[in-house]
Amino acid sequence: MEYVIGIDIGTSGLKSIIVSGDGEVVKSDKVKYDTIHEKTGYSEMNPEDWYEAAAGSLGRLLDSEYGSKVTGISFSGQMHGLVIVDKDGEVIRPAILWNDTRTSEECKEIIADIGLDNLLGHVQNTVLEGFTLSKLIWVKKNEPENYKKIDKFMMPKDYVIYRLTGNVFAEPSDAAGTVMFDVKKGEWSETLLEQLGLDKNICPEVIPSHGKSGILNKELFDIEQDISIYQGGADNACGALGAGITDSSRQLVSIGTSGVVLSSEEEDDYMNDGSVHYFNHCVSGQNYVMGVTLSAGYSLEWLKKMLGDDQTFGEFMEEAKTSPLGAKGLLYTPFLLGERTPYNDAEIRGSFIGLDANTNANDMKRAVIEGITFSLNESIEIMRKNGKNISSIVSIGGGAGNRQWLQMQADIFDAEILTRTEEQGPAYGAAMIAAIGEQWFEDFSVITEKWIDYKETFTPITENKVQYKKLFELYREVYEKTQGLTGKLLEFK
Ligand code: XUL
Repeated sequence: MEYVIGIDIGTSGLKSIIVSGDGEVVKSDKVKYDTIHEKTGYSEMNPEDWYEAAAGSLGRLLDSEYGSKVTGISFSGQMHGLVIVDKDGEVIRPAILWNDTRTSEECKEIIADIGLDNLLGHVQNTVLEGFTLSKLIWVKKNEPENYKKIDKFMMPKDYVIYRLTGNVFAEPSDAAGTVMFDVKKGEWSETLLEQLGLDKNICPEVIPSHGKSGILNKELFDIEQDISIYQGGADNACGALGAGITDSSRQLVSIGTSGVVLSSEEEDDYMNDGSVHYFNHCVSGQNYVMGVTLSAGYSLEWLKKMLGDDQTFGEFMEEAKTSPLGAKGLLYTPFLLGERTPYNDAEIRGSFIGLDANTNANDMKRAVIEGITFSLNESIEIMRKNGKNISSIVSIGGGAGNRQWLQMQADIFDAEILTRTEEQGPAYGAAMIAAIGEQWFEDFSVITEKWIDYKETFTPITENKVQYKKLFELYREVYEKTQGLTGKLLEFK
């Protein structure tokens, strides 16, 4: 039997899996790494660290008993990160990541200069701090000497592919997240680039997600065979594909460092008003809408660190479970790094509301889990208001790793929650792309049919649903009531 490898370049680490022709994961590997937060709002990483992690992980997988039978590899990657290289392919400065929010000024300037309608018309998205465009403009303004050296910009996974094959390409699902890419036309928006004074030549050539990027450089690994690399997709697109989301009959909730609600958008005349993201899927010809909670799993990690707990996720959840629904009147808003959906506000900061002499660490844990889930529910509400019927959701990532949290998702989202049998997150979608690239299957609908199945269904519990509905209304008030305050606190950061 032949095998493919899927690699996900995440924010806190990298995960690789070997998948057999019938969709079974036979081996996996993980590498942890850290992002650099030099100042409040800054989040960077050295692209060399991604390459080292990917090459190390690939080396281990290719040395395994399956290594000689691997024929194709593809990638999934954290979105929006700006990697810039000079004409010799050398990285010019550390990558500026999706959760870096330093570019508020640039976002305001771009909108003032060219207008929101113009942006929505050309790239069907507004510009946000997290997106690549504002990062590029930031470099142009603040580091002109670095900007002048740029030969190409790349997304994180595209940089790793470049190092493994020597070829520079992009693909639509990640290109869309730059907001320099016309999602509907599937090409870089020359008009927008011109309006912003950006040189089109710094944009990589775009090939389909399952398009061949090249052959894995044999000098780097102990292999005999040619292994093809396919360009892959954005982590959320790959997460959706790996969860079987290729139409709007089901939605995706993915809880990793960030949290995401994603729904296929099949209407050609869909017009985004900027309240959600509208990006290309890694399944050719398909698009999706998405809402993002910036600090989902990140909130959990933050609380663990703050409480000095050296706990596993399972232990954390066991303790959270000892606190009752509503965490004894404690609400948490996960705005540690500002918030995207629905506020698009990089300055807002999080809060615990309702601290009590009786509050204990377990209540805080529960409030954090509930707050993350309420935040995701805000995206679900927007999609429902826009006419989407959301009754069945596939949950992946950390949030799918605990039955209590899955039940909470069903109760808060008021929808059935499905879990995957083979829950491997975006790496699985990347492996599916490699399998399509290898032409093991005719198209994505065939592989989805063959490789994807679901394990468990969680349905809403009526009493919990009613209680959570009340709490969600209160949660929603927190933004409005704390926005001014946390804004004024910024000067003390
Ligand atoms: C999506 C986003 C995040 C990153 C994290 O717009 O910024 O979900 O892709 O990996």
